[in-house]
Amino acid sequence: MSGAIDAPLVRSLPTQGRDHAALLQELEALRVADADWRDGRVFSLVYDPGHAHEAFLQEAHGRYFSENGLNPMAFKSLHRMETDVVRMVGHLLHGDAATCGTMTSGGTESLLLAVKTARDRARRLHPWNRRPEMVLPTTAHVAFDKAADAFGVKIRRARLGPDLRVDVKHMKQLINRHTVLLVASAPQYPHGAIDPVAEIGKLAQKHGIPLHVDACVGGLILPFIERLGRAVAPWDFRVPGVTSLSADLHKYGYTAKGASVLLHKSTDYLQDQIFVATDWPGGVYASPSLPGTRPGGPIAAAWAGMQAMGESGYLALAQQTLAAADELRAGVRAIDGLKLLSPDDMPIVTWTSAAPDVDVYAVADQLEARGWHVDRQQDPPSVHLTVMAGHERTAGAYVSDLAAAVQFVRAHPGAKSQGNAAMYGMMAKVPFRSMVKRTVRGLMLEMYGPEGGKNQGDPQPPDGVVGKLLAEHGETIGRALDTWQRLRTRLTGRR
Ligand SMILES: Cc1ncc(COP(=O)(O)O)c(C=O)c1O
Repeated sequence: MSGAIDAPLVRSLPTQGRDHAALLQELEALRVADADWRDGRVFSLVYDPGHAHEAFLQEAHGRYFSENGLNPMAFKSLHRMETDVVRMVGHLLHGDAATCGTMTSGGTESLLLAVKTARDRARRLHPWNRRPEMVLPTTAHVAFDKAADAFGVKIRRARLGPDLRVDVKHMKQLINRHTVLLVASAPQYPHGAIDPVAEIGKLAQKHGIPLHVDACVGGLILPFIERLGRAVAPWDFRVPGVTSLSADLHKYGYTAKGASVLLHKSTDYLQDQIFVATDWPGGVYASPSLPGTRPGGPIAAAWAGMQAMGESGYLALAQQTLAAADELRAGVRAIDGLKLLSPDDMPIVTWTSAAPDVDVYAVADQLEARGWHVDRQQDPPSVHLTVMAGHERTAGAYVSDLAAAVQFVRAHPGAKSQGNAAMYGMMAKVPFRSMVKRTVRGLMLEMYGPEGGKNQGDPQPPDGVVGKLLAEHGETIGRALDTWQRLRTRLTGRR
């Protein structure tokens, strides 16, 4: 998973078409620096359903590889499959005969559409509201920020309670006459907690505001965790006040990438999702989601994959996932110097430091050196694991490597000022977030600029202001930021 691609950039089309076999070989060679998810050392990005199911998904995907869901009249097959998928998910999440919705390309599109729908509903019902706002937990997925940007809806983020679920009293304080949407997560990504949806539902009903529950992570696993007898707080259409729900099929639905579902309580809500243009010379154009062309492959793979799995398949996967998550939680609890942020019974495990000499980012570097792909978080520094069925095989190895990593960091206090730990530590602490934003934007520009990234190998400290400061004055700045952090904690009580 480390290293770089040494193949030269392809700068123009080959004059003559190239040999298929050679190209397929090169496709494989390009994987050289990829995260190796098949061996269970990656805790995000890929949901591995096992070889047999993966091959089946590829087959189903391939059969509708060329078809386009943009026109449901031209491809009635895809429209039929989409309807079936939406029904299956609606049934799982306790919708009723009025529940409806569409497939989307993923969680982000589902959330973008949920926000656009709420904004357009408010425009229709409350045209005087020219400054729409939405109230969401601090931990609600960052795709809501993208949506806020794209659709001109102001975000008000409510703080968390001590259990890392949103503080509903604070949500209530943030509601005003411009609020067009409330949001809860089931569960939220950073720590795996389910927000108190039942209480938020009451708030939504009282104020007559739509409530979207982001179950992009939980949608296809929480119903099965509940059936396994674990404690799952109510979060789906059984909760009065919930008006829309998103559930990703390409996460715990273990289907092909590019598949999520956005459900609405009824067509009364769905109507504001749909885009119609009547005056374009190209014809009257209607579309239920953000893209124009809608690839048939992910729709067909979801339709076939979900039915191939069935309730029994998803139950078995949920059981394996919980076994792995339980083992990871027990392992973290047993390591002196670490503590869990995530609750029990969830598929997400998040750990942080419980001792001043255990720097989370230094431990993360050590885990990476031992071959694990690590998802670092901030505020507080922590490491996130989205646990899946396949991790049953590797949970034990992770725990022993984590214990060794912590031991190493305690024995080497300098580790936190070196390598990626120094960069992440500083990025997390820099009080001027616009400076961090500029630096990260610079990194992205470099990656997507004409050269596709100078460095295609391991991450390097960024160029730009933060990078330069880090290179020249890393130690001093680190100490100053530590002091600032302690002061802020003392003055505001915020970590
Ligand atoms: C809670 C939650 N919502 C939405 C998303 C966005 O999903 P996607 O990456 O499919 O766009 C994620 C992604 O991790 C998530 O965790």
